Amino acid sequence: MSYQFKITKTQHSSLSNVDFNNIPFGKVFSDHMFVADFINGEWTNLEIVPVGKISVHPGNMAWHYGQAIFEGMKASRDAAGNALLFRPELHAKRLNASARRMCMPELPEDLFLQAIHTLVDMEKAWIPPAVGSALYIRPFMIAMDETIGVKASETYKFIIFVMPVGPYYSQPVNLLAQDTYVRAVVGGVGEAKTAGNYAASLLPATMARKEGYDQVMWLDGVHKKYIQEVGTMNIFFVVGDEVITPNLDGAILDGITRKCIIELLKDKGYKVVKRPITIDEIMKADTAGTLKEIFGSGTAAVIAPVGKLKYKDKVITLHPENYEVSSFAKNTINGIRNRTIEDKYGWIVPA
Ligand code: COI
Repeated sequence: MSYQFKITKTQHSSLSNVDFNNIPFGKVFSDHMFVADFINGEWTNLEIVPVGKISVHPGNMAWHYGQAIFEGMKASRDAAGNALLFRPELHAKRLNASARRMCMPELPEDLFLQAIHTLVDMEKAWIPPAVGSALYIRPFMIAMDETIGVKASETYKFIIFVMPVGPYYSQPVNLLAQDTYVRAVVGGVGEAKTAGNYAASLLPATMARKEGYDQVMWLDGVHKKYIQEVGTMNIFFVVGDEVITPNLDGAILDGITRKCIIELLKDKGYKVVKRPITIDEIMKADTAGTLKEIFGSGTAAVIAPVGKLKYKDKVITLHPENYEVSSFAKNTINGIRNRTIEDKYGWIVPA
């Protein structure tokens, strides 16, 4: 089905103020956003408008009871300047999986895709050309009822706004394995891309930063020994001749970059294993000399090599400058995104 969007263009583009060679992540926004309202059981008021503030009542239920979900996806460009989207249909599906878990309405996939295509096409001049840079796309949905009392909202707002970004991490990342606080348990909301999961990472990440670490690496909520993910991304380990990543157990985010890496590495002939993996196993692999690489994966981070990992009193120091597996995966994903490497998987869609 094709939807009608009301489009109001800005009179004051801020594009000329942007230095594409120096873009801080998440602080520079394009000119327009897509907005839709869920009222009386249907999505309505489908509009593209100049980016701006939205008016929200103090009783807005999203603020009090946390019905807030989002996606992070990217648009890139090829040498000819064509705007390209990376696996947008998977983001449409994951948004709806998050919506179901958070008792929020699903957004028809074709509406999600048409909104992304229309907005990115309008904002294609905002896609930075450099490899590793992209137009980051942030679709999100929040409750809009103005009610104090715990129940699911009946009204919602869905917005997509976009921003040119450079790399999320420009240096190897240092991680602190967290053995006091936990992010999620099986049966909780860990696999939903909901705001509260990121709020849970803030205190441990702040504590980690005080010790000189960039992020927290979560362990499972029951035994505090199985590795889950990092505050900002999924996680991979290269041990001996295996590439290991925690299996999706219901508490881990089903990362789209994670999925791509698994496919790319398997195709390249690597043995990729999805299974429970303990922090002790990783510490022992380091002692035994079989731990070769640790890297994170996410839309924002793409592939982030890990330089150090601390668990209790022990610190593992790695050598990202020698990483082969993650460098291959990163270069391939970036190359597919810019069409300098053939996209034999069909992941790239013209915007
Ligand atoms: C993403 O990778 O797109 C995320 O949403 C994670 C966030 C740390 C930016």
